[in-house]
Amino acid sequence: MSKLEEIKTKLAAYGQDHLIAFVGELSDSERESLLTRLETLDLELAKKLYEGRNDISTGDDKIEPMAYVDRLKLSDEENAKYIAIGEEILKAGKFASVTMAGGQGTRLGHSGPKGTYMVEVGETKSLFEITCETLKRAYVKYNAYIPWYIMTSRENNDDTVKFFETNNYFGYPKEYVAFFKQGELPMIGETGKILLETKSMVREAADGHGGIFEAMNKNDIVKDMKSRGIEWIFIGGIDNILLNIVDPLFIGMAKDAGVKAASKTIVKANPAEKVGVFCKRNGRPSVIEYSEISEEMANLRDENGELLYGESHILCNLFNIDALELIGHEKLPYHAAHKKSNYIAEDGSEFVPEAPNAYKFEAFIFDAFSKVEDMLLLRSLREHEFAPIKNKEGVDSPETAVALYKAHWNV
Ligand code: UD1
Repeated sequence: MSKLEEIKTKLAAYGQDHLIAFVGELSDSERESLLTRLETLDLELAKKLYEGRNDISTGDDKIEPMAYVDRLKLSDEENAKYIAIGEEILKAGKFASVTMAGGQGTRLGHSGPKGTYMVEVGETKSLFEITCETLKRAYVKYNAYIPWYIMTSRENNDDTVKFFETNNYFGYPKEYVAFFKQGELPMIGETGKILLETKSMVREAADGHGGIFEAMNKNDIVKDMKSRGIEWIFIGGIDNILLNIVDPLFIGMAKDAGVKAASKTIVKANPAEKVGVFCKRNGRPSVIEYSEISEEMANLRDENGELLYGESHILCNLFNIDALELIGHEKLPYHAAHKKSNYIAEDGSEFVPEAPNAYKFEAFIFDAFSKVEDMLLLRSLREHEFAPIKNKEGVDSPETAVALYKAHWNV
């Protein structure tokens, strides 16, 4: 059987033969690239994703609040002890930082990787440069460079690398910076058909930041970390300009507690704030995303009037190297988002939808927390840790974030 016949048979078995409908119209190179992609396309996974698109809910899970430590309530002795442990790890070069920067700045009206978005913080700087400054300050303090791994996506990898090169890696030594790409998943229409972006290309989209663990293993990032003697890895987003990556207290507490993962939280501002919140789900650490929490649960309060589910996840997470290895070999659930997506219709024309018509599947980093038995939550102060840039205007915009940054750094 020819390669084309084999692929046709495989597609037909899953009702996806439309993907090859235009093969006769393609140039040799387009045909080759389509067939190469279809050969490895995981149709069983696509089927499962589609069938499970409405599955994520708290359902019958047992949900409880999760314990945390409030950093403001630590004694001077505790502070000194944990900071000393953390500093030892930093000075010994056993700490690395990973930045999840697979996203585009679309919501900000920025055409390019989100990390290349410029903000005025005294001087005009990109989000990447602001992140890098945290690492440079740490070098001055601990006399050890922190390896910096940057997760990009197919869409933004080349632009990201070019931006670093043009900006001379913001003065950070190049040998301590590495890029790796996150994975992708096909987008699927309402009836379960995988969409075509062009006649020779399947429509695929980034698999969410939960894809980071698999991508790190696939790209030998974990191996590289091990060869450098890294024991603790911070993983954060790119859009919080107060992200406190290098925090010896946090690192020291995690090590002292003997946990494999830790997260810094802040108190949720109000029940409707768009942040995920920590909970215990069937006894394991978990986060309920803002889009998935019920209004009733979001409004529950404890005897002190505090939100019962108020420890917000701010993408400020720390993992032990063993946890990264373990999670990299586990499957995380996928959350389906209903989106608008153009595609090539049966008659070969491009269909442009006016309403959501397709599913995009994303794994979330916090679904990895249930893979570890327990984790440390360190409640920290919002004004020291959280100035996200999500929207063009209003809440969580450049304007609000810059004001928080300037107040914190006194610039
Ligand atoms: C996210 C969190 C939410 C948290 C809030 C705090 C998720 C699903 N939700 O919401 O729990 O309270 O931030 O600010 O994470 N990224 C990738 N690849 C992807 C998708 C995202 O690298 O495929 C990166 C982005 O570049 C960004 C970060 O992950 O750095 C956050 O992603 P975003 O989609 O903006 O999450 P939010 O909806 O803001």
